Amino acid sequence: MTDRLEAILTARGLDPTATAAPPPPEEPVSAVELADRRIPARYRGALADHPQITAWATQIARAGRPGPGGAPGICEGGSLLIVGPTGTGKTHQAYGAIRTLLHQGVRLRWEATTSADLHARLRPRTGHDSERELQMLARCPLLLLDDLGAAKTSEWTEELTYRLINHRYEHLLPTLITTNLPTAELRTTLGDRVASRLAEMTERIILTGPDRRREDPA
Ligand SMILES: Nc1ncnc2c1ncn2[C@@H]1O[C@H](COP(=O)(O)OP(=O)(O)OP(=O)(O)O)[C@@H](O)[C@H]1O
Ligand SMILES: [Mg+2]
Repeated sequence: MTDRLEAILTARGLDPTATAAPPPPEEPVSAVELADRRIPARYRGALADHPQITAWATQIARAGRPGPGGAPGICEGGSLLIVGPTGTGKTHQAYGAIRTLLHQGVRLRWEATTSADLHARLRPRTGHDSERELQMLARCPLLLLDDLGAAKTSEWTEELTYRLINHRYEHLLPTLITTNLPTAELRTTLGDRVASRLAEMTERIILTGPDRRREDPA
């Protein structure tokens, strides 16, 4: 240390011979724990117990090529369209699917957004590269697009949804989509080009039953 620096530190009441404190030891964190931290608290314990969803997860896990650490990575695969009225557990099953893959040891980069948040995130604004964010979501190995068709639409949102879905369609990227809308309404809301691609790329899973949020616990 130079004399000048030593003098400055001493003048400020700092000990020039002191070394920086070592960082506190970190607990080892598993991939599942790391992923769980990004999952909204309500769905952090979600289990995908629907047979079509567990079958999808098994298929995706099997198709994964081994990554750098030897664990299978996610690659091309089918997508799911989870359809049903409000409160039937669509988002629960979708996060459950992500958790199932992680528990099966699949190395997984994933993103989740509702369509309303997607529109807000990608709205052009100064100092924000919306195009880059769209590309990030479009190329992400696994994407959860929650509540598709529930947000207010415009020509701009239609184009955005088309570009996102079309990229995932063309590259066979696994996508978990949830919606309240039946097929005919999905077509009117999202446009025929998006609906047509969804029909080909997704397996439909229909959830029925009462609104679980209003279920009488008694
Ligand atoms: N299989 C399940 N086991 C336990 N709780 C569940 C299950 N499925 C859903 N729930 C709970 O029921 C509530 C509604 O579920 P969820 O949010 O997934 O519904 P949704 O179909 O996505 O509704 P919306 O269409 O309004 O978004 C949540 O509190 C969720 O944690
Ligand atoms: Mg939901």
